[in-house]
Amino acid sequence: MAKKSKYVCSSCGSNSATWLGKCPVCGEWNTYEEEIITTGKGSINVPKLKETKPVKIKDISTKTEVRLDSKNAELNRVLGGGIIPGSLTLLGGEPGIGKSTLALQVALDLDVGVLYVSGEESLQQIKLRANRINKNAENCFIHAEILLENIIQTIDNIKPELVVIDSIQTIQTEKLESTPGTVSQVRECTTIIQRYAKQTDIPFIIIGHINKEGSIAGPKILEHIVDTVLQFEGDRNFMYRILRGIKNRFGSTSEIGIFEMKSDGLREVNNPSELLMSQGNDNVSGVTISATLEGVRPLLIEIQALVSSAVYGTPQRSSTTFDLRRLNMLLAVLEKRAGFRLSTKDVFLNIAGGIKIIDTAMDLSVIASILSSDLDIAIPKNVCFAGEIGLSGEVRPVSRIEQRISEAQKLGIIEIYISKFTKNIDFSRFNIKITQVGKVEEVFRNLFGRK
Ligand code: TYD
Ligand code: MG
Repeated sequence: MAKKSKYVCSSCGSNSATWLGKCPVCGEWNTYEEEIITTGKGSINVPKLKETKPVKIKDISTKTEVRLDSKNAELNRVLGGGIIPGSLTLLGGEPGIGKSTLALQVALDLDVGVLYVSGEESLQQIKLRANRINKNAENCFIHAEILLENIIQTIDNIKPELVVIDSIQTIQTEKLESTPGTVSQVRECTTIIQRYAKQTDIPFIIIGHINKEGSIAGPKILEHIVDTVLQFEGDRNFMYRILRGIKNRFGSTSEIGIFEMKSDGLREVNNPSELLMSQGNDNVSGVTISATLEGVRPLLIEIQALVSSAVYGTPQRSSTTFDLRRLNMLLAVLEKRAGFRLSTKDVFLNIAGGIKIIDTAMDLSVIASILSSDLDIAIPKNVCFAGEIGLSGEVRPVSRIEQRISEAQKLGIIEIYISKFTKNIDFSRFNIKITQVGKVEEVFRNLFGRK
């Protein structure tokens, strides 16, 4: 049996025959780890790929895809309508966020046969969790196992219609000698599962942990292998959870699912406005909601400003995650174009949750927060903003405004302020008040009824 060892970067998955201090591919330091690869041992009963031939595109029949209904409206929405046969869905999230709970809940809800494989918890622990969720499923098998060869054997025996793997970092294949959770194990196991799923048409939900940088542990390569990547987000101390599609070969990634963690499992949140309304801060001045985009994904975030008289000669301008130069520019615009005397005031700006987002559409919300705090007049929490501010005080249109509006509407906002210069958009399909403004002055007149 040949025994080889190689060094693999735990950040990006690139490998080298020798140890390196700095990864030449991703530039990270101290990420190379030794892995022993044993070849020749272990055989896995995955059928050989069938021989395929090229087919003319016009000859391919498009039989309507039959999706497996997960019985969970929020999950179905994020997946694009249900689980596609033979698909691999990676469910990522921080420890304790509720990945196992969500997966077990789906497994217990389904009428068809489901196999829930856990490498993390014992059968008793899973039973205790199932008792909490309080479901008596007839067709749900639980298997506490970490060896992929045995798992595949079990699937062959009981032929389930959905398999949940909790988690990919605890599973190992005999083909490699490295410990579970290493880059090679995670990658190899996922590749084998992918091939197996495609051959048998059994869909898999794979749970993956998130590393400290916030991406799914193990290399990015995992995200390339699977069909769908879902991320479960939220504050552990805060009961709401957001399920977000990051990649989806069978649907859009702009949908989100919202859940509430209760003592008896996750509840689907049908009326998302409660997410924004229940955070307190009602009738507090200086707080506004901004409809921003993170990459292509819309996100509603709370912007807080505090304006107070400067105690020292030079007023302070401070911001946790918002660009300070941009804040200074916006203050200058307010001073020059709208006549607000802010030069003797301290201005503090905070993006709730400490999220760092670079999106000029936050400008409108930032100035609304500043003015709200300066005048000490609260802005209702069901109003949000999306617009860029130019140097002459004009409110400029921003990208993907329709996506922002639909996200706002979905999250229970009743009015959104956008630029008057937004073109070629049919607003009639939205069920939300859209206020179009051209200049910063108009914003104040609308919001506070005065200039
Ligand atoms: P879990 O699904 O184990 O998280 P993950 O698999 O992502 O690590 O969820 C753990 C948390 O959820 C834990 O702190 C307890 C809480 N929880 C509830 O509040 N209600 C429940 O019904 C269950 C099962 C868990
Ligand atoms: Mg878990």
